[in-house]
Amino acid sequence: MTAPRNKTEDDITAEALQRFAETPDPRLREIMLGLVKHLHAFVKEVELTEAEWFQAIEILTEAGRMCSDKRQEFILFSDTLGVSMVVDLLSHRKPDGATESTVFGPFHRLGAPELPPGGNIAHLDKTGVRTLVSGRVLDLGGKPIKGALLDVWQAQSSGLYDSQDTNLGELHMRGKFHTDAEGHYLVRTVRPVNYPIPSDGPVGRMLRATGRHPWRPAHIHFVVSADGYEPVTTHIFDRTDEYLGSDAVFAVKDSLICDFERHASSTSEAVQLGIDPPFLTAEFDFHLKPASEQGATVLDAQQRLAALGAAD
Ligand code: BEZ
Ligand code: FE
Repeated sequence: MTAPRNKTEDDITAEALQRFAETPDPRLREIMLGLVKHLHAFVKEVELTEAEWFQAIEILTEAGRMCSDKRQEFILFSDTLGVSMVVDLLSHRKPDGATESTVFGPFHRLGAPELPPGGNIAHLDKTGVRTLVSGRVLDLGGKPIKGALLDVWQAQSSGLYDSQDTNLGELHMRGKFHTDAEGHYLVRTVRPVNYPIPSDGPVGRMLRATGRHPWRPAHIHFVVSADGYEPVTTHIFDRTDEYLGSDAVFAVKDSLICDFERHASSTSEAVQLGIDPPFLTAEFDFHLKPASEQGATVLDAQQRLAALGAAD
């Protein structure tokens, strides 16, 4: 007598699990079995209807159509569902004292210019508040790391990244800086502003339908790396921002919040750089932990995404 086939939804779950049970690669097997188990449980728990299932297919199809080298709707879904931050936390368990990481986001671009200390990433931004961001890159013992690379990017004072700004045909608000022998870095920019994540696609519709806002608190992005250390992908956040407690992508960590201090009169550094008061300064030290055996980093993934866009 043959076993009854596909009688109940639990029979189908069991059979689907069985089909993946012989996957040769153990990690792929673990992932596929977990995916089927939880996806089936989710569908059963909410009793997903055919109409809702089809709506999900439409949403994913639209998300795919929106993706290009400048727009990544799937990363945005991952970010706004909190998945990116959970993956980030699982991937970067820092020892005490190492700078905490946070989401990479969809707006990093390859090819940012190498700039000298004090180089201005905001040279085309005429409305933002002049700001100097400085600090040191240190190891966990507080020893300066010379020659560390800081890949920095930020939204313009309009709230738009260069890739979203149709008036701009060039990279802007991006730069690569190196630390000096004492581990110091210095970036000239404008005050970061809060801005809404792109909400003209399916992610925006999800946020509106669920009564959520799309705002991110003001921040500056950094990937800090150095030979022999684990790179950190992170932001610094403005302490005064009203959205610190409700970031649309759950990325705020207390240790990344920093003061932007207003100066009404000049300082020697500002004179050297030709910056007239009033201006702001922010100070933030990055602490890197020693390199461990690492798999692909988020930057590797970004390089693959950029290559996908380039193939269009
Ligand atoms: C960003 O900060 O650039 C960002 C991060 C996640 C989603 C959208 C934007
Ligand atoms: Fe951002």
